Amino acid sequence: MSANAASSAFSKWSIRAGILAIFWALCSYLQSINDHFYVLDPEVLHGCVNASLARAEAQGQNGNASFIVHNLLTELDKAYPDASMLTDYTDRSEWVFNNAGGAMGSMYIIHASITEYLIIFGSAIGTEGHTGRHTADDYFHMLTGAEYAYEAGSLVREEYLPGSVHHLERGVVKQYSMVPESWALEYARGWIPLMLPFGFADMMFSTLDVQTMYHTSRITAREMIKNLLRGKF
Ligand SMILES: *[C@@H]1O[C@H](CO)[C@@H](O)[C@H](O)[C@H]1NC(C)=O
Ligand SMILES: *[C@@H]1O[C@H](CO)[C@@H](O)[C@H](O)[C@H]1NC(C)=O
Repeated sequence: MSANAASSAFSKWSIRAGILAIFWALCSYLQSINDHFYVLDPEVLHGCVNASLARAEAQGQNGNASFIVHNLLTELDKAYPDASMLTDYTDRSEWVFNNAGGAMGSMYIIHASITEYLIIFGSAIGTEGHTGRHTADDYFHMLTGAEYAYEAGSLVREEYLPGSVHHLERGVVKQYSMVPESWALEYARGWIPLMLPFGFADMMFSTLDVQTMYHTSRITAREMIKNLLRGKF
């Protein structure tokens, strides 16, 4: 290799290393400031869930997932008139399967931005798997059914019933399961794009369900871009 070629290779690699360092610094900076970007609040969400469960109880619709989800979306819309949210859960084109960590369920995206997402997630027949180790805090508000979970080392299960919240902290991993007809309002806040590889891995390497991958990407990207254009990260 001539001296010229060696020096041009060296400058190419130093540029790459420089870009990587800037990207890393940007990620750490964003991680430290993403608190400022949150518009949703776990307590307020829990209040909306409680209100929809109370209404179901009052009207003899206990355990009716359609009734509860419908009322919950109405409550969310009232609580967050300015947030960009999808509230027509009867639109089948907005529902997708999700395979992640060996578990399978279906989801309806209510809100997705760079630092937050809010979805209806669950399964009509139940599921079981790995929660994933995430860079976001996850609040799993049970609407119907039951969820069980435990951390390695624990010999007894945690039990989450309608009205309770399973808060999975950043970095914590558990095995979890849900009984048939378990539905939940799942809220994650943190650095959402870093969660996506986990959300897509089973589709890429196991199910090879290209249509589901396409629709999941289409809906997620559409919502994230919609939020970015409104200045919501
Ligand atoms: C929701 O209901 C649960 C169970 O009844 C209760 O513990 C919790 O404090 C309520 N939270 C809100 C925000 O209303
Ligand atoms: C459950 O709620 C939905 C939506 O409100 C309603 O159409 C349906 O009849 C209810 N199911 C039962 C078994 O009451």
